[in-house]
Amino acid sequence: MKKIITLGGSNSKHSINKKLAEYTGDLIENVSVVKIDLNAFEMPMYSIDSENDNGFSDATKSLNEIFDNADGFVISLAEHNGAYTSVFKNTYDWLSRVEAKVWRDKPMILLSTSPGGRGGETVLNIALGQFPRMGAKIVGSLAVPSFNDNFKGGALVDVALKNKIAELVALFEKEI
Ligand SMILES: Cc1cc2nc3c(=O)[nH]c(=O)nc-3n(C[C@H](O)[C@H](O)[C@H](O)COP(=O)(O)O)c2cc1C
Repeated sequence: MKKIITLGGSNSKHSINKKLAEYTGDLIENVSVVKIDLNAFEMPMYSIDSENDNGFSDATKSLNEIFDNADGFVISLAEHNGAYTSVFKNTYDWLSRVEAKVWRDKPMILLSTSPGGRGGETVLNIALGQFPRMGAKIVGSLAVPSFNDNFKGGALVDVALKNKIAELVALFEKEI
C-alpha cells in the first residue's frame, strides 16, 4: 500500500494546520497515512557551524528516512508574520541539507489555514513558488480561511471548501 505523509507546519500542540492536513490525508483512499508531528522531531537551530561540527541529528536522519519512504505529501502551512513558522523553516533547512529534493518528486496537496480571513495565503504563495524547486509535484493548493468557523467537529463544514478539498484529493489519487 502507498504511504503518504501528513504534516502541519507548526509545533503547536493544538495546531489547526496539523488538523487540516490529517483530515485531508484521511480522505485519500487506499493509502496508509503517516501523521508527522514536528514536536517528535525537534532539531537544533540550523547553522552551518552546527552542521559542520555535529553533523545531522537523529531527528533529522529519521525524518529524512520517513520522507525517503513516502509516496506523497499533504502539507498544511501555518503562517507567522507572512512566512513559514520558525519550526517548519528549521526542519526544512535541515532536510534540504541531507537531500535537496526534499519532496522527492512526489505528488503533494499544499494547504494553509489560519483563524483569519486570508487563511495563510501569503505563506502558501511562498511555498507554491519554492517547493517545486525542491521536488514537489503540487497537484493543487488551497488556503482555508477562518478555520474556527469552517472546521467543526473534526471536519470542514463549509460546502465550497469541502468540495474543493474533495477535488484536490481526487487529483492526488490519480497522481499517486
Ligand atoms: C508569531 C505569530 C505570528 C502570526 N502571524 C500570522 C500571519 O502572518 N497571518 C495569519 O493568518 N496568522 C498569523 N498568526 C496566527 C496563526 O495563524 C495562528 O496562531 C494559527 O493557529 C497558526 O497555525 P497552527 O495552529 O497550525 O500553529 C500568527 C501567530 C503568531 C503566534
